[in-house]
Amino acid sequence: MLVFGGTGDLALHKLLPALYHLHRERRLPADLRILALARSALSREAYQALAERHCRAQVARADFAVDTWQSFAERLDYFAMDAAQSAEFGRLAQHLGGACTRARIYYLATAPQLFAPIAANLAIAGLAGADTRIVLEKPIGHSLQSALAITEAIGKVFDESQVFRIDHYLGKETVQNLMALRFANALFEPVWRAGHIDHVQISVLETLGVENRGGYYDQAGAMRDMLQNHLLQLLCLVAMEAPVRFDAEAVRNEKVKILQALKPLAGLDVRDKTVRGQYSSGHIGGQEVPAYYFEKNVDNDSDTETFVAVQAEIDNWRWAGVPFYLRTGKRLQRKCSEIVIQFKPVPHSLFPGAPEQANRLLIRLQPEERISLQLLAKTPGKGMALEPVELDLNLATAFSRQRRWEAYERLLLDVIEGDPTLFMRKDEVEAAWRWVSPILDGWHHHYQKPRPYPAGSAGPEQARSLLELQGRHWHG
Ligand code: BG6
Repeated sequence: MLVFGGTGDLALHKLLPALYHLHRERRLPADLRILALARSALSREAYQALAERHCRAQVARADFAVDTWQSFAERLDYFAMDAAQSAEFGRLAQHLGGACTRARIYYLATAPQLFAPIAANLAIAGLAGADTRIVLEKPIGHSLQSALAITEAIGKVFDESQVFRIDHYLGKETVQNLMALRFANALFEPVWRAGHIDHVQISVLETLGVENRGGYYDQAGAMRDMLQNHLLQLLCLVAMEAPVRFDAEAVRNEKVKILQALKPLAGLDVRDKTVRGQYSSGHIGGQEVPAYYFEKNVDNDSDTETFVAVQAEIDNWRWAGVPFYLRTGKRLQRKCSEIVIQFKPVPHSLFPGAPEQANRLLIRLQPEERISLQLLAKTPGKGMALEPVELDLNLATAFSRQRRWEAYERLLLDVIEGDPTLFMRKDEVEAAWRWVSPILDGWHHHYQKPRPYPAGSAGPEQARSLLELQGRHWHG
């Protein structure tokens, strides 16, 4: 496995710790070697020390053992090269010992601008044989045009079956549980439709800011970094029809139909159904944090959004008229990723004054993994006072003996084993961009600047009113 971007945040914080866990649990093929590639002139030992420092920080103390690390480090090597320079690939080929004789995975943990040149250069250097796979990290492209260009360039070198487009949200346990919940239980299917569902909320809220990734993030923003991929993938899993089989093509065929059925947002809809925000200074966990435009590598007059909320609709029989409210943002008051399915109230209430916050299915991805059905029940004693109660499926306690896998562990193993079910197919990426691009264009043409919101708050006021004007409220 060759990891381009080997000294970057993704490789050090996510990929190597995930590979370490897989190694520790003896899930990796015995002969798997990992070659990290980046520009810094580092020796193998220096890279191993860097990797060890990060793995120690990321892996739970009980799971980190020096001898396990040492055996893992034997798999780990480093090669200094500039992946933007085609001449360097000849050197790489030499280092690898010429043409490909073993199965090889190229993991591109780099900026998307490098995807096409790296693929082309691998081909020129004779490193892109039939027994290779390429893994692309989201965001794939910066716009519909650039995404199509990447797809075309990758397609010239690799067959679609060799391409693994990663969206780590699909590797999260609860996200896969959503499929189990929907398609392994008969209970939900009859009510999983417009006639019974009032609306759906998908929220991915973070307390972190942009950390060391200001340079990347300032070019991307919340729409490209999160909504175009993670949130739309969650939306697909909530909304798709039952696939005929649980395999890569059947699942992806159903997901792409949802993306293609998203009602386009353009013109005034962009103004009325989307909200952009950017955090100003504030307090999180008692600590003062700076405004976004003071973050490292961010433009002082940046108008990149760090928060976005969108009201989406799916134009098909099952979902016509049901709003899907999506929101995501950085530096918010709490970290929480959840999906809320709000069912319609009973058609005629026998119990006036019954609280509103029931008839709701809550699927929580983070911080805890939980699925709960919020129902109304009578409080004990005289009278018919009702209160919401929860039918709670706490996945962490239900399966307390198993260690919870990180999303990247599962996805890396899938790449190694060649199972693309949890990866995005090229038509999914394209359909997602087709829906997102007009929104980005609309913001640009109408100078829709991000609304400021204090760090540590719930986001811009306008996100609240997006729902309140329709008599609804964000959950939590
Ligand atoms: C990444 C984004 O894909 O997902 C980050 O680039 C974001 O900006 C992260 O912080 C969130 O992932 P998770 O798994 O912590 O919810």
